[in-house]
Amino acid sequence: MEGDGIRCLNKLFRALIVVVILLQCVVNPSLSLGFNNISSAGVTRCFEREREALLAFKLGLVDDYNLLSSWGREEHKQDCCNWAGIHCSNRTNHVTQLNLGWYYLREADALQQKGQQESLDYYFQGKMMSPKLIELQHLKYLDLSSIDFTGTQLPYFIGSLSNLRHLSLWEASFGGRFPSQVGNLTRLQYLDLRSNHFANVENMNSWLPHLSSLTYLDLSHNNLSNVPDWLEVVNKLPKLTNLTLQGCGLPSPVIHSSTLFNINSSNSFAHVDLGSNQLTSSIFLWLSKYNASLVHLNVSYNQLTGLFPDVIGNMSSLAHLDLSSNQFEGVISESHFSGLSRLRSLSLSSTSLTLNFHSTWVPPFQLDYINLGSCKMGPHFPNWLRTQKSYWRLDISNAGISDILPSWFWERLSHAPKIGYVDLSNNQIRGTITNSQINFVCFSCRLNLSWNQLEGEVPPFLLKASSSLFLSHNKFSGLFSLLFPINASNLRLLDLSSNHLHGELPDYWTHFKNLLVLDLSDNLFLGRIPATMGSLSSIQTLNLNNNGLVGELPSSLKNCTSLMVFDVGENKLSGLIPEWLGVELPNLTILILRSNHFYGSIPSQLCNMGSIQILDFSMNNISGSIPKCLNNLTNLALRGSSSLTISHYYNAASGVLFFIYEDEASLIWKGIMSKYKSTLGLVKSIHLSSNRLTGEIPSEITDLVGLVSLNLSRNNLTGQITPKVGKLQSLDLLDLSNNQIHGIIPTSLFGISGLGKLDLSNNHLSGKIPTGSQLQTYEPSVFAGNPLLCGIPLQTCSPDETTPAEQPVVKNQDEDNDGFITPGFYVTLGLGFVVGFWGVCGSLIFNRSWRYMYFKLLNGLNDWLYVKVASFMQRRMLDE
Ligand SMILES: *[C@@H]1O[C@H](CO)[C@@H](O)[C@H](O)[C@H]1NC(C)=O
Ligand SMILES: *[C@@H]1O[C@H](CO)[C@@H](O)[C@H](O)[C@H]1NC(C)=O
Ligand SMILES: *[C@@H]1O[C@H](CO)[C@@H](O)[C@H](O)[C@H]1NC(C)=O
Ligand SMILES: *[C@@H]1O[C@H](CO)[C@@H](O)[C@H](O)[C@H]1NC(C)=O
Ligand SMILES: *[C@@H]1O[C@H](CO)[C@@H](O)[C@H](O)[C@H]1NC(C)=O
Ligand SMILES: *[C@@H]1O[C@H](CO)[C@@H](O)[C@H](O)[C@H]1NC(C)=O
Ligand SMILES: *[C@@H]1O[C@H](CO)[C@@H](O)[C@H](O)[C@H]1NC(C)=O
Ligand SMILES: *[C@@H]1O[C@H](CO)[C@@H](O)[C@H](O)[C@H]1NC(C)=O
Ligand SMILES: *[C@@H]1O[C@H](CO)[C@@H](O)[C@H](O)[C@H]1NC(C)=O
Ligand SMILES: *[C@@H]1O[C@H](CO)[C@@H](O)[C@H](O)[C@H]1NC(C)=O
Repeated sequence: MEGDGIRCLNKLFRALIVVVILLQCVVNPSLSLGFNNISSAGVTRCFEREREALLAFKLGLVDDYNLLSSWGREEHKQDCCNWAGIHCSNRTNHVTQLNLGWYYLREADALQQKGQQESLDYYFQGKMMSPKLIELQHLKYLDLSSIDFTGTQLPYFIGSLSNLRHLSLWEASFGGRFPSQVGNLTRLQYLDLRSNHFANVENMNSWLPHLSSLTYLDLSHNNLSNVPDWLEVVNKLPKLTNLTLQGCGLPSPVIHSSTLFNINSSNSFAHVDLGSNQLTSSIFLWLSKYNASLVHLNVSYNQLTGLFPDVIGNMSSLAHLDLSSNQFEGVISESHFSGLSRLRSLSLSSTSLTLNFHSTWVPPFQLDYINLGSCKMGPHFPNWLRTQKSYWRLDISNAGISDILPSWFWERLSHAPKIGYVDLSNNQIRGTITNSQINFVCFSCRLNLSWNQLEGEVPPFLLKASSSLFLSHNKFSGLFSLLFPINASNLRLLDLSSNHLHGELPDYWTHFKNLLVLDLSDNLFLGRIPATMGSLSSIQTLNLNNNGLVGELPSSLKNCTSLMVFDVGENKLSGLIPEWLGVELPNLTILILRSNHFYGSIPSQLCNMGSIQILDFSMNNISGSIPKCLNNLTNLALRGSSSLTISHYYNAASGVLFFIYEDEASLIWKGIMSKYKSTLGLVKSIHLSSNRLTGEIPSEITDLVGLVSLNLSRNNLTGQITPKVGKLQSLDLLDLSNNQIHGIIPTSLFGISGLGKLDLSNNHLSGKIPTGSQLQTYEPSVFAGNPLLCGIPLQTCSPDETTPAEQPVVKNQDEDNDGFITPGFYVTLGLGFVVGFWGVCGSLIFNRSWRYMYFKLLNGLNDWLYVKVASFMQRRMLDE
């Protein structure tokens, strides 16, 4: 009895405890079941099953940057609701959000101030996605964007996370078959699968129509070229408002009038982005149904033809219109825009449209973004721009404008506080720019007025206000005068090349402390290089090519320790080649002293120039021998190149924006003076031709296996051609003509498979020209002027001629298989190949964090970026 009583009490007691706990749970939900650690924030909320699922998920990731250090089984880490990227419901304590996407991590990372951000391409690699993830049945928000799942399949169990509202997997490198189980996620409102490698998203008809709650869909850069009915499929989604299908190879949909009747009238698209597809103008039949709801329309880079579509004039809600890069034709007038009072962003560039507005037209809109490059707007300067008060981007380049630059233009700019980019280049704009008291301040401005007919003096206010100023190919005759003490500390980049600037170079560069790039080439400057140029302490590119400069290089230039590109070719400079070029300027990549009056010998200190890529001393009076230490030029001793261009990346004063500037250099390539820009990074050359060099060609030069061009012609070089010359496997051009070289031609020379231009004429070479392993395609002139030389393509050797024993063709063991495609080959091809190259090597240059910035800016400020990045992105994504 007594025992029974105690047992009964015991049971009652336990039941009481349970009731108390349950009561507590009701009163304070955060004290829920099964949790061990009472932390300062209260009791651990996390469910063990969910914690284990997350830990299993973590095991499938390679977390090189230790971003998931908060995830663990250790006692103080038990509460998975506090882990990075996790959110739990306040009410149920279940995990509702798993966000390891790029934007989240980028912010978290920025907070932690981790290093290496700039070079980071992925935060995580995904080995596999643990099936335990389906334990997270309450998950509403899943963002794994930009985790590199290296082409693995998106697991079918994703379709079991039936509570998902938001699924973001952009650039997550999923591949293989796309799981149609995604069609079970009927609550999904937001789906972003852009830029993966799925093999069959074209099965979209089997899953997409089930997602009836979807409001946002982005399938950009998935191949949908095999889905002729894509439009019907997206039209079945009654709540869809935002549709982005960029670069999907979309075929133009067949639109019958019956299709249009079947359109669910509850659809109301606000955002339609179908850029970079194969659409034709029939798409406007469909778009016209949404004339009241469309806010954002992008159909750029398609195959749209015909006149400007009238339906656009009815789209009264439009805040963004991009029709650029299509083949429209005809004339646009005021009436086309009369209904577009909300328009903020207008892109019609690279269409063949003619914009013909009356000079008194007052548009109904105020634009932020004006992109009308390569439209026909001329011959008069568009007067309606006067009414636009606050744009941050204006591109009316190449628009056939042949007029005087109106003075109101600067007045207007000075009242546009956000202005960031102005491009009036490539027109016939005339007149002078007076330095009125304009209060034009644009610390992050990029101003391109190049290729016009502007004349007079470059006004100081421009130099004061902008961060980059492109004024090349005009008729400016004077630089800012001394009367204006200017502080141009915002100016990062000044290009005044190809103008009519004359007189002595100004002598007050101390005001240009932050200048990175100064290009004064192709002008008429006379006199000496002023010593104050040495105060350009940030300068990376200094180009004074093709002027009338005299005297020695001022030694103050050795303070310009950031100098990468130094071009003073085509002047009348003289003196010894300074030793400090090799000692003080460790980043020097391009050094051009060509066509001056430099004399003396090449100082051995120049062998310290580990970064040098182009060394051009040709056409001077340099004597002495070629230094043996040349093999110390480590960049030239490396084959290939990490980038296609020689570029500078810099922030404008605001710090948020970054810009790219690509260097250009002129070189004599195969007898022709050519400018290189888009392939400059590939040019690795030593040109010492037309000097008075004597002695032998040091055999050490054959260690410079990256050399694409070696020109030692027109000197007094003696000795023989070393058989090691065959090591120079990257050579495209070898010119040793007009020297005193004797001996035989080594067979190894013909083992250089990419050698496009060879000149050995006018030496003392002898013996039989080796036949080598490849066809002899060289002209006789290559060997002319060597009386003792015989064999193909010269006259045959007489039988008694002592011919050297056949030498084996030397081939490097480590030679690439694609020896045929040498850098020289690319250089010769020039621009044409650049597009293809980006697809392969672009990521070396444009790493993830810049892409991030690009997207971020797109989302936030809109794309403040230099267009180049945008078009690069487009190309790269198309390649994917
Ligand atoms: C509970 O977790 C906190 C950190 O959240 C830790 O500092 C504390 O030591 C843990 N307490 C117990 C009893 O494990
Ligand atoms: C959940 O809790 C946080 C912080 O305690 C609070 O800011 C938030 O509003 C709560 N959310 C809900 C839905 O109660
Ligand atoms: C949805 O899930 C059910 C099982 O719950 C399955 O039978 C069906 O095939 C799934 N549907 C799709 C479209 O995957
Ligand atoms: C897209 O897929 C089609 C066939 O499925 C194929 O012919 C085409 O080459 C693909 N396009 C790209 C850019 O991969
Ligand atoms: C249009 O959408 C509504 C609501 O989702 C749906 O009930 C209806 O069947 C749809 N009509 C057509 C023709 O698809
Ligand atoms: C959908 O498009 C509208 C109009 O462009 C935009 O305002 C909105 O932010 C977009 N929604 C999302 C989720 O991006
Ligand atoms: C949209 O187009 C329809 C005809 O397709 C027209 O009746 C309607 O007035 C237009 N709406 C606006 C706002 O222009
Ligand atoms: C400036 O305009 C010229 C001519 O349109 C163009 O070639 C050049 O790339 C532009 N420069 C910049 C930095 O935008
Ligand atoms: C080779 O270069 C290194 C640094 O790049 C320098 O320290 C060394 O003195 C150079 N050697 C010669 C012989 O110039
Ligand atoms: C080359 O050397 C020879 C004699 O050694 C001399 O006559 C000739 O002028 C020299 N040529 C040059 C260009 O220095």
